[in-house]
Amino acid sequence: MGASEKKGVVVFVLRNETERSVSFSAGQTILQVAQENDIHITSACEGMGICGTCHVAIENLHDKLPKISDQENDTLDGSIGVTMQSRLACQVVLDETMDGLRVKI
Ligand code: FES
Repeated sequence: MGASEKKGVVVFVLRNETERSVSFSAGQTILQVAQENDIHITSACEGMGICGTCHVAIENLHDKLPKISDQENDTLDGSIGVTMQSRLACQVVLDETMDGLRVKI
């Protein structure tokens, strides 16, 4: 299996409520998949997990997501508009079980 093999799709729900389905490879973060497809997610710390600007809302598959780390939790604590669905796009690494994940930006 090559590293670039696509494993599923992520559906991004954009601010104007339009949706875009894009393919991802296992091992990519949500932020990387967005950037690769010219979907804008602010990422002030460029994926270090410390700025909180890449905060997104995950709409489904919550039981499939990797467990939230203490650092991600701390960063989210300092972000605005956080809900139970909130995650940092740069900290969620995708795998094939997350096919069909819906991410609201
Ligand atoms: S880009 Fe800064 S926390 Fe994700």
